[in-house]
Amino acid sequence: MHHFKQKKSELYCEGVPLSRIAKAVGTPVYVYSHATLSHHYRIFDEAFAAVPHIICYSMKANSNGSVIRSFTNLGSGVDIVSGGELMRALAAGAPPKKIVYSGVGKQPWEIEEALKRDILMFNVESREELEAIDAVAAKMKKRAPISIRINPDVDPKTHPYVSTGLKKNKFGIRIEQAIKDYEWAAKRKHIEVVGVDCHIGSQLTEVSPFIDAAARVRLLVEKLIKKGMDIRYVDVGGGLGITYNDELPPEPKVYADAIIKSFSGLDITLILEPGRVMVGNAGVLVTQVRYTKEIPSPHGKGSKHFFIVDAGMNDLARPSLYGSYHAIVPVGKAPRGKVEADVVGPICESGDFLAKDRTLPAFKSGDCIAAMSAGAYGFSMSSNYNSRPRSAEVMVSGARYEIVRERETLKELVRGEKTATFLRKKGAK
Ligand code: LLP
Repeated sequence: MHHFKQKKSELYCEGVPLSRIAKAVGTPVYVYSHATLSHHYRIFDEAFAAVPHIICYSMKANSNGSVIRSFTNLGSGVDIVSGGELMRALAAGAPPKKIVYSGVGKQPWEIEEALKRDILMFNVESREELEAIDAVAAKMKKRAPISIRINPDVDPKTHPYVSTGLKKNKFGIRIEQAIKDYEWAAKRKHIEVVGVDCHIGSQLTEVSPFIDAAARVRLLVEKLIKKGMDIRYVDVGGGLGITYNDELPPEPKVYADAIIKSFSGLDITLILEPGRVMVGNAGVLVTQVRYTKEIPSPHGKGSKHFFIVDAGMNDLARPSLYGSYHAIVPVGKAPRGKVEADVVGPICESGDFLAKDRTLPAFKSGDCIAAMSAGAYGFSMSSNYNSRPRSAEVMVSGARYEIVRERETLKELVRGEKTATFLRKKGAK
């Protein structure tokens, strides 16, 4: 469900035509619907209403402060993976006791910052990380709350780049090893064992891998409780997929019921780390066709078109990186006629495309189009490749919109850069 709708041949975000935003703010621009964000949070939260739970929005999907704040205002916590995310999460009003810290490469300064803020728990991914947390906590004379991220060796049946719960992946600790690590951790003065964690991948469109992983986690939780450990939290990660094209992922309620059932009877609080499902369909990337080009079709008959737009793989990396699909929708009245086309960016690589081999309206230069479902892993993965300033971000609520991040300036592109002194011409600064 989302609030992007075609009304009288204009694409609207809630009550605002996207063409108005494109004209006022320029393109490319990411546009988020606040009503959609709130709706997604509420649906997810209500789905788990029957059990104690904390939703920790996985902010790597979209770390704009207003997006995070949309969730924290509704009671959400945050799943972070870096000191930078910790800073942004706190600035956006996340209560430290609802922050969980995941990721395989936590650095000592990041661990220290998180400990200073008294976050809910560290999701630990290796024995060496556990030892590092113990050392930092000892130095600070604190106890670090931890859970171990289990690698359950379950196939999430998704893109290999976003599968994380297979034994060949770098993530988590296999169950047999985890038991040893838990026993070690339980004896440390500066570590407090509080939970068990698991995350098997992203954009899952079936519920069965979640159930398989949960069954393995449950067995471990029971073992640890028997050993006398006070397991209060079970973090099942994120990963629920969304519809980009024709996928039919389970509804949040179906997913929630399966998870709730998997842990029924245990005296624990569930932690959920949804990212994509919260923001994916709540955002679009609006871009303008600058030039069009036609070549003889490589398949023999007819011609192939290129719509060269002002957004590139630096703005939306997903199609180039994962071959992922984003629907292309006209922002204004769709031009007559259909053509076979690629929507490509200005970047100097053939891998720079937003859409490939599509049947699309015969757009002309000056037309604006929207790459749909770009709210998750869109702006947050954008870069300055080809020295392109990152795009602006806008949030809509009802009939109003506001810029929630200004377009980067050329000056910002070179912030912090210096010409090496040995390269400077005499007399120049
Ligand atoms: N928790 C952990 C530990 C994670 O690693 C992730 C995502 C999440 C939660 C949130 O997963 P979600 O609910 O969003 O599926 N850039 C890729 C997706 C990478 C996912 C990384 N981890 C993409 O654009 O498809």
